[in-house]
Amino acid sequence: MFDKKFRPRRLRISENIRAMVRETNLSVKDFVYPIFVVPGENVKEDIPTMPDCFRYSVDNAVEVAKKISALGIPAIEIFGLPEYKDEIGSSAWDMNSPVQRAMTAIKKAVPELVIVGDVCLCQYTTHGHCGKLSGHYVDNDETLKLLQKVAVSQAEAGADIIAPSDMMDGRVAAIRDALDEKNFSGVSIMSYAVKYASGFYGPFRDAANSAPQFGDRKQYQMDPANAREALKEVELDLAEGADIIMIKPALAYLDIVSQVRQKINRPVAVYNVSGEYAMVKAAGKLGYIDEKRIILESLLSMKRAGADIIITYHAIDAANYLNE
Ligand code: PBG
Repeated sequence: MFDKKFRPRRLRISENIRAMVRETNLSVKDFVYPIFVVPGENVKEDIPTMPDCFRYSVDNAVEVAKKISALGIPAIEIFGLPEYKDEIGSSAWDMNSPVQRAMTAIKKAVPELVIVGDVCLCQYTTHGHCGKLSGHYVDNDETLKLLQKVAVSQAEAGADIIAPSDMMDGRVAAIRDALDEKNFSGVSIMSYAVKYASGFYGPFRDAANSAPQFGDRKQYQMDPANAREALKEVELDLAEGADIIMIKPALAYLDIVSQVRQKINRPVAVYNVSGEYAMVKAAGKLGYIDEKRIILESLLSMKRAGADIIITYHAIDAANYLNE
């Protein structure tokens, strides 16, 4: 029965009425822009599977940092390709590595920009796994000691937020201890608490040269089929002292974002990962979709699902669209 008192279309009748009743708004302040830093000078290298993203040397990374800060984007997340790799990934805590040098240089040039450091070993190990191996098994507790070194080195270099993405058990507590012991109690931890073993990381692994040399990451990253387990991971990381909880990837996991949002009273972040980015860029370039609309609609959906923070390679484009 059509009850004529109720006509939802009334509140859609003009742009200003729609704006008045809009439940979710996307803002430039929601974004974190991820970049890849490499050794050398004046480097700006294409990443074939991630159009419009580049690998930058530290000097050029500083220019990008200035640019994103001028757009109003509050934060940058730094990933690195090291000069050397070994069995335990020791270049991950080398203060002369591109990541640590970029952090120091960006902090100096753009002090207000929040620097997020990804803490993981896969870009730094010869075998491409996210920890120290014992045979073909990643040794959890031995890896924690290495992650502590990486986190402290990044805090020393100028990171404001440490973001462990390795999915070892107990890493948040281990990193919190190590940071506090070195007087970095003001450095936050944004935990990749719910990180699925996902096919959507493919372009990133090309970009960062971090694909595992044997096997896969299913012993430590989560099974895409599991939602209850995600809530357990979140509970554990909060108990260990995580300040911000991240869910990754974003689009195929918005149900998880929504459930976590309802359950916790800490900030929730999502990582709109490389594969999600690459699909939109590819379809946009082919003219199959309206790239601008799809970018803004996708990012809005992450916000609506409950994310406070969106880590996205679309940040610069989206900021330009929102600032138009
Ligand atoms: C490192 C790491 C990965 C991503 C962020 N940190 C890759 C992986 O787990 O293989 C993926 C980010 C993206 O796809 O954009 N462990």
